[in-house]
Amino acid sequence: MKNKKSFSRRTFLTGTLTTGALAITPKSLRSNENIFSYITRHGPSSGIAKLNGNENPYGPSQKALRAINEASKKSGYYVHTSGETLRSMIAEKNGLTNDYIILSSGSTAALTNIALASIKKGHILAPDLFWDSTANLAAGTSQNKLKRLPSNTKHQIDLGIMKNSISKDISLVHITNPNNPTGSVLNNSDLKKFCREVSKTCTILIDEAYNDLTDNPKSSTMIPLIKEGRNIIVTRTFSKIHGLAGLRIGYMIAKPKLIKEIMKFGIIGNWTTNHAGIAAAIASYNDKNFLSHSKAMINEGKEMVMEAVKKNGLSALPSKANFIFVNLGSLNADKFKASMAKRNIIISGIYRNHKNWSRVSMGKISDIQRYVNAMPEALEEIS
Ligand SMILES: Cc1ncc(COP(=O)(O)O)c(C=O)c1O
Repeated sequence: MKNKKSFSRRTFLTGTLTTGALAITPKSLRSNENIFSYITRHGPSSGIAKLNGNENPYGPSQKALRAINEASKKSGYYVHTSGETLRSMIAEKNGLTNDYIILSSGSTAALTNIALASIKKGHILAPDLFWDSTANLAAGTSQNKLKRLPSNTKHQIDLGIMKNSISKDISLVHITNPNNPTGSVLNNSDLKKFCREVSKTCTILIDEAYNDLTDNPKSSTMIPLIKEGRNIIVTRTFSKIHGLAGLRIGYMIAKPKLIKEIMKFGIIGNWTTNHAGIAAAIASYNDKNFLSHSKAMINEGKEMVMEAVKKNGLSALPSKANFIFVNLGSLNADKFKASMAKRNIIISGIYRNHKNWSRVSMGKISDIQRYVNAMPEALEEIS
């Protein structure tokens, strides 16, 4: 762990990056990108450490920025062929055809449609904590409900309890993996087994917004089960590791019959996207250098937060996403948020009734450092 950290700090300073199989040498940098160009120059006003949105401050990549510039010139026209290009790239990577993929304005738009389509037929079953905005919205339009599993102290999703909670009146099982706000990831084979069994009777939605941040994204995705013909929907987004949150490009993957049903509940697809976002997504989709660099910086930030948490006598859940859920013990997360805000550090407050848990998103290393430095004072202030 220690080696990894000193290594990534050094790479940040020298501009030489090695992550997993990828090695960027100064030579390849000259012919490709300057690593320093990944350091953010945009975003929140200076002096504000924005650590509440699970964004990637290193985005957009240089390739994406160039593509955005070029694509903006087409803005007088609706998106058509470039949307098809992106769909084909996603289809090809996953061994599917384009009709399995629908683009949307962020994954929020697709998730909203999925929730509305499901709530019409029955209840939505989900864990106690998950990214619940769209399921909540849909539940507000219907007699059917968003049913949550009971919470547990570890904030883990118990697939056994989930399976036993499924009845005829549940139309959708909604799982976020890795989960938000906990950062926890489910065991791949347990989740696959659960999905194969449960999808025989009920549609399953796996929101994989943070999949690229897991240790092994390929084995932790449930997309291959869609290829098997199962009743499973996966959503993905360019808002997280791709650093394109403000360009609003996401997508869902499911078998075409399921997609047709879901599309009745709101207009999604190429039509609802934009040239700049699509061009940036295309440029970023296979940009291994940028993605590895972002992941390395995010992981470095997480190590810094974990260390600070320990130093301050607290604990946190291990996270496979770009945020950390910190257990403040007896202290109140809204008060901690306010105390940090006084110091121009923006973090999240209380989630549901978990008053002592606080989520901090990764940001620029300098902003994480500010969070780490402010932690003792802020904790002291609310104690
Ligand atoms: C798990 C999860 N899913 C989906 C979203 C929506 O993101 P977007 O609409 O930008 O794709 C978020 C946003 O934070 C999220 O955390």
